[in-house]
This record gives sequence, C-alpha cells and structure tokens, in this order.
Amino acid sequence: MDSIRAYHERSKHHPERYAPGPGGLDWDSQPDPFRRYAGAPELDLRLLSGELPVCWDDLSAPVGVPAQAMTADSLACLLQLSLGLSAWKTYAGNRWALRNNPSSGNLHPTEGYLICPALPGLPAGVHHYRADRHCLERRATAPLAWSGGVLLALTGIHWREAWKYGMRAFRYCQHDCGHALAALSYAAAALGWPARQLTDWDDVQIAALTGTARAADFAGAEAEEPEALVWIGPGSAPAAGEVLAMLAGATWAGQANALSAGHRDWPDIPAVAAATRKLAAVQAVQATTLNALPPLAPVSRAPVSHLIRTRRSAQSFDGVTALGAQAFYRMLDALLPRTGIPPWSLVDAVPCVHPVLFVHRVDGLDPGIYCLPRTPAALAELRDAMRPDWLWARVPGCPEHLPLHLLAPLDVRQFAAEVSCHQEIAADSAFALALLARFDDIGPARPWLYRQRFWEAGMLGQVLYLEAEAAGVQGTGIGCYFDDAVHRALGLDTTRFQDIYHFTVGKAVADARLGNEPAYAHLPGRACLPVRIDPWAS
Ligand SMILES: Cc1cc2nc3c(=O)[nH]c(=O)nc-3n(C[C@H](O)[C@H](O)[C@H](O)COP(=O)(O)O)c2cc1C
Repeated sequence: MDSIRAYHERSKHHPERYAPGPGGLDWDSQPDPFRRYAGAPELDLRLLSGELPVCWDDLSAPVGVPAQAMTADSLACLLQLSLGLSAWKTYAGNRWALRNNPSSGNLHPTEGYLICPALPGLPAGVHHYRADRHCLERRATAPLAWSGGVLLALTGIHWREAWKYGMRAFRYCQHDCGHALAALSYAAAALGWPARQLTDWDDVQIAALTGTARAADFAGAEAEEPEALVWIGPGSAPAAGEVLAMLAGATWAGQANALSAGHRDWPDIPAVAAATRKLAAVQAVQATTLNALPPLAPVSRAPVSHLIRTRRSAQSFDGVTALGAQAFYRMLDALLPRTGIPPWSLVDAVPCVHPVLFVHRVDGLDPGIYCLPRTPAALAELRDAMRPDWLWARVPGCPEHLPLHLLAPLDVRQFAAEVSCHQEIAADSAFALALLARFDDIGPARPWLYRQRFWEAGMLGQVLYLEAEAAGVQGTGIGCYFDDAVHRALGLDTTRFQDIYHFTVGKAVADARLGNEPAYAHLPGRACLPVRIDPWAS
C-alpha cells in the first residue's frame, strides 16, 4: 500500500475505534485563529454596508453580472465575502468569531494571500489577509506589473486542526480549502469577475509566491502549507516564471506569530503533506461534459452578499420539515458542473466526487438511498463498484437531465446518523449525503489528486451550504463519519472509490443560548463601502 492510502486507512474513524486524536482538548495550547505578521505594514480595508446589488439567481443567469473595476474597495469586498468574518457568537462568557467560509471545528486553517500589481488604493506586492481586522498586511513590496486581474493564494496551517482532531486533521484542512475555493468563486462572481484555479503552478512556486517558504519569517511559528492559487479577473494570468522573476527583488516584511504555546506532534500529517505535494505542474484533464446541461432553475432573488453573510451551519434540525421536490432538484442540479457558473467555473477537471444521498423528508420522493453520478461515465463506474442488487431506478418527476437514481427505498435515518459518528443532524434533516471520491487514479504519479478530491468535496459542500440558504433551509458539513461502515453498507469496491465527506440539509433549529454579535462591531470607525442598493423583489 502506498503512503497516501496508508494515511487514509490510519485516519479512518470506526465505530469501535476513532482515528488517533488528542483524546481531550488542551486549552492551554488552543491555536490563535488569526495569523499576524508583526512588522508588516497594514492597510485597512473598507467594509461592505448594505448588500451588493446582485441576487443569487443572477450568478447562474446567462447575461452574467457586470464586472466591477478592480480597486482596493472591490477587492476588500471580495475578501470580506469569501474569507471575512460573518458574526461573533457568545456563550457562558466565551466569545468566538465565525466566518463566511465554514471550517471543521471552526478552527480555520486556511489563510489567504492577495498578490497584485499596483491598483487604485493598493500598492503592488504580496499581501496577507487578516480577517479579524479586515486589513491587508503587506508581506512583500515588489514591482509586480500585469493587467486584467489578481492572484489569490490559499495556504493551510495544519496545526490548527491537528490541535483538536489529531491525525485526521489533514483531511479537514483539505475540505476547508475546497470550501474556501468555492467561497472565493462565488464572491468573485458577485463582483462580475471570473475566477480560475491555476494548475500550472506547483507547490514550491506557491510557497515562494506567498512567502510561506521563508523559514526565518516563521521561526517559532507554525508552518503554512501551500494549497491552491486562483486567478481572479477577466484577463489571462501571467506565467509562474514571470511572476516569480518580478518577485526576485522584493522587500519582505513581517514575522509570523506563534499560534500556540505548546504543540503535540502528529508525524502522519507532515508525512502525508509531503507525499501529496505537487512538485511539477500538470494541466488538468479537460472536461468534455460541461456544456450539455440546461440552465439552473431560478430559486432566490435574495442578494448574494446577504446569503453569504448569513450562512450558518445548522447544529440541529427540527426532524419534521420536508423539503419541496423542486428545491431538492435545484440543489442537486447546482452540484453538476456548468461552464461559467460558480464554483465549477474554477476548474476544468472532470468531476471525480459523487453524492450518495440518504433521503429522509423530500416531498414526493420515497425515503431511501439515492445516487447522483455527476458524469455519465461515473454512472457506469459507480454501478459496477457497488453492490449488484441496488435498483438504479430513475426517479419519477426528476428533471430528465438530472442523473438521480434510486438505489433502495428505505428508512435510512438511523443509519445516516450512526455512520456519521452518531450525529443526529444526519437523521433529523431533509436529506444527508456521503461523497464518494474516485481513488484508483491517486498514486505516486499524481499524488496531489488526494488533496484535490477533498477540495472537490469541500466545493460540493459549499454549493450545498449556499443553495440551502437560498432555498430557506440550512446545511452542515460532516467530517466525522465511519468510513468503512458506509463502504460496507454500499457494497463499495474501495480500491476504486472512498467516502470522503458527509453533508446534511434541512430546517435548522437555532440554539437560543448563543448570543450573536455583528461581524465587525469591533471596528466601529472603519469606513464602509458605498454600495448602490437596488430594490430587490422578495
Ligand atoms: C469540513 C467540515 C467538517 C465539519 N464537520 C462537522 C461535523 O462533523 N459535525 C458538525 O456538527 N459540524 C461540522 N462542521 C460544521 C462546522 O462546525 C462549522 O462550519 C463551524 O463551526 C463554523 O460555523 P459556520 O459554518 O456556521 O460558520 C463541519 C464543517 C466543515 C467545513
């Protein structure tokens, strides 16, 4: 077994044995959720007041959203809507921030870096985004010169997740990266900007670009792992070599803060990180199936910025409310990749992650196990890889183009909760799902595919989070589940597919004990972005 599969096996939860973890939380070493660079010049960004005049359905409308000029203010809006704070919660004397991008355990391993030429209000260079202060820390001043867009890099601090989750944390960091990628794609689309993941950069280059390879700047601080790089804007991205050459004479500033006073080592994590790094750039395989789908059905005229900023993970569901069939089909339809529609416009790669659904309460549908192969080829592969007695029946009333198949009509509420580490949120919702990732092409030749499968799963999760809000319900990512228990129940050939994420959608019950404070009430003097407010139809 190669080292990646070995990590994957060791980091599985089983009903009788959870993956190795800390066995309790050491509050003295709780990581600081915010990275800072002492000594780096700060540039305060303006905050969004009101809502952007773009509604959810506009993002999938053929006419598109008019592109904003790229300035410090519009990029502030991009960063706020993707990686910024959404609220503060309080309980029993504790207070913690939530963000527009979700995160397992709310630990937020993902950091964002904006790399740009000189723009109105913004000097050229490499900037770290600080979500708590909504400011940019200028890590590098450099003569970067190009037009038509900016680079946005994501990195991950594995320790933040490992503190709570131990060995399995590497998986969660990848999920979170996928959620953040999709969050960026939606935020860019709301500003009228295309966003494309750049696959022609390798991880060494991304580390050089973000300054996270500068060991002296991280002395005594937790390392950041390069993850993904996105080009945002209508133009085409400059080549990696050109950008790095422009950075060669940069002046760097800032010393990374230590996030924890003490650490516990999880050697499997640096090992799997090293084993899955992309050390040579390779183009993604072009997808051939993207254009054959009809437009998405309209679902909501609510402002995108409102849905993004009020998105919340449900902590419990009411256990009774059913989802309408049309709302359900629209949510599933949004999981199919369409050209030019966020977040699938980020990548060209053929979808490799496919939902198996546990339907509990959807009007007109039998409760049971369903499958949504996201490509025609995957239908045959999944059918072949699962137990032979599944029905694979088309669902009456389901739109023709939506490849939803009933595997077995069953009450799967108890099953869904049990295999999701006994979490009731998987049973009390309208539906829950497991995401099956293709695994047989992950290996020494293309080890980074391991990370990318989790990113794809995280992107699917982010679609569901926002689609749920648009439909008036809520979602929750579920990283805790019993991998092999799901595989056994599905009769899955695990050399070909593995369950890599769960999700659940339904009518949330709010926890009345939690206090709620506005996201940036702690920055009272901060100027707000003047945004034209259109009168939306409700
Ligand atoms: C990858 C991932 C895994 C998660 N796993 C669970 C889970 O197993 N159980 C749960 O109740 N919530 C889970 N969550 C939800 C997080 O706890 C939630 O995102 C976080 O507390 C921040 O809250 P927010 O999403 O409302 O901003 C998960 C979220 C993500 C992104």
